Amino acid sequence: MERAELTKAGSLKGEITPPPDKSISHRAVMFASIAEGKSIVRNFLRAEDPISTMNAFRMLGIEIEEKIPPIPPLLKGGEGGFGGELIIHGKGLHGLKEPFDVINCGNSGTTVRLISGILSGNPFFSVLTGDDSLKQRPMARVINPLKEMGADISARNGDKYLPMAIKGRRLKATDYKMPVASAQVKSCLILAGLYADGTTTIIELQKSRDHTERMLKSMGANIEIDGLILRVKGQGSRVKELSPIDVTVPADFSSAAFFVAAALIIPNSEILIKNAGINPTRTGLLDVLKKMGADIEIENIRDVSGEPVADIHCKTTSNLKAVKIGGDTMPSLIDEFPILCVLATQAEGVTEIRGAEELRVKESDRIKAMAAELKKLGVELEEYPDGISIKGKTSLKGNVVESYHDHRIAMSLAIAALAAQGATTINNPSCVDISFPGFYEELKRITR
Ligand code: S3P
Repeated sequence: MERAELTKAGSLKGEITPPPDKSISHRAVMFASIAEGKSIVRNFLRAEDPISTMNAFRMLGIEIEEKIPPIPPLLKGGEGGFGGELIIHGKGLHGLKEPFDVINCGNSGTTVRLISGILSGNPFFSVLTGDDSLKQRPMARVINPLKEMGADISARNGDKYLPMAIKGRRLKATDYKMPVASAQVKSCLILAGLYADGTTTIIELQKSRDHTERMLKSMGANIEIDGLILRVKGQGSRVKELSPIDVTVPADFSSAAFFVAAALIIPNSEILIKNAGINPTRTGLLDVLKKMGADIEIENIRDVSGEPVADIHCKTTSNLKAVKIGGDTMPSLIDEFPILCVLATQAEGVTEIRGAEELRVKESDRIKAMAAELKKLGVELEEYPDGISIKGKTSLKGNVVESYHDHRIAMSLAIAALAAQGATTINNPSCVDISFPGFYEELKRITR
């Protein structure tokens, strides 16, 4: 699909189960591959990013069986038909084999950053690369600390960018104070820590998503968490294997967020979002929406495979209020910046989001992208090096906009399009397949 055409929506009604969580899907494949024995991953996200992780571990010699759901997801009417079931035959911490070719991580920062921690501790040669976006994203944030642990890594442009070549070897534990808030960097170092001699201490700048810690601990890894300080006891040459897992991946809160926003800003809407992960390290958007006065109820809170899950009931809120958001909240809503910008256009007053410089190095420069495209829809805004301020409430006008080949930009603009007068065309809209195949069809299904 080269272009998506969207027009103003009357209302949104119904139930939706968003696709499975991307972060948890990646981790389940990775950790099951280095566990000893057979793991089952239910409701795995069959989208481009986690498939990059699955392909990578197949290249590293792991057998992964896929059971694809018999009914095409979209015919199931949003009843969680996106996921597949995987059976992963893990070979233990030291059972991976040297890949025969370069591992292409596609668009996926999580794949490349987490896997680099595993490969640094495995005694073979591997090369990692990615698509044009991933090749421009910073890798020194993992390469530098891995080198401190004794890893042998070289990468393009002074060890800053992909491709990166790793000669795995015995690692030593380190104490590392992270200069950025990043779950990808933290997870990379936790994984390297499993392979190191001694105890690796990682100090986070701010609390980032903790799916790695939760899952690895459930598998028997020796990880202690004390606020922002994490201690990982490595095995070195003495192998204490990780136990296999049987996990069900919840729906992705970051995918749910587009539907939450749509329900709030489209008149006469009411939707129930089912099975959404509500891990507090991910739901900063809910806290912000509460401050904005959004009509949202969290219902039926439960635990699924060690992660909190709930249903989210949202209704149109015509009197959303502007908010000021600083860096402290950013990690817990890092992927929701683009959709928050759209929400801000429909809130009374000036919304200011600062301390968001990390958004400049995501799949696209998301600050620049949202500033440029929202302006095309008629929004008054100001861009800062570390964020944006957006004046609401704006009557959006349809136009031709760009996705920057970034899934979350495309989906955010699609929601803006539903609120805009006239028609909106999104160029290069298929990038939604990175995290949400069938997004436009799901949106259409619940649009009246
Ligand atoms: C992710 C962490 C975040 C997030 C990304 C997924 C993860 O990146 O933006 O979409 O799965 O660990 P950073 O850790 O680099 O902030």
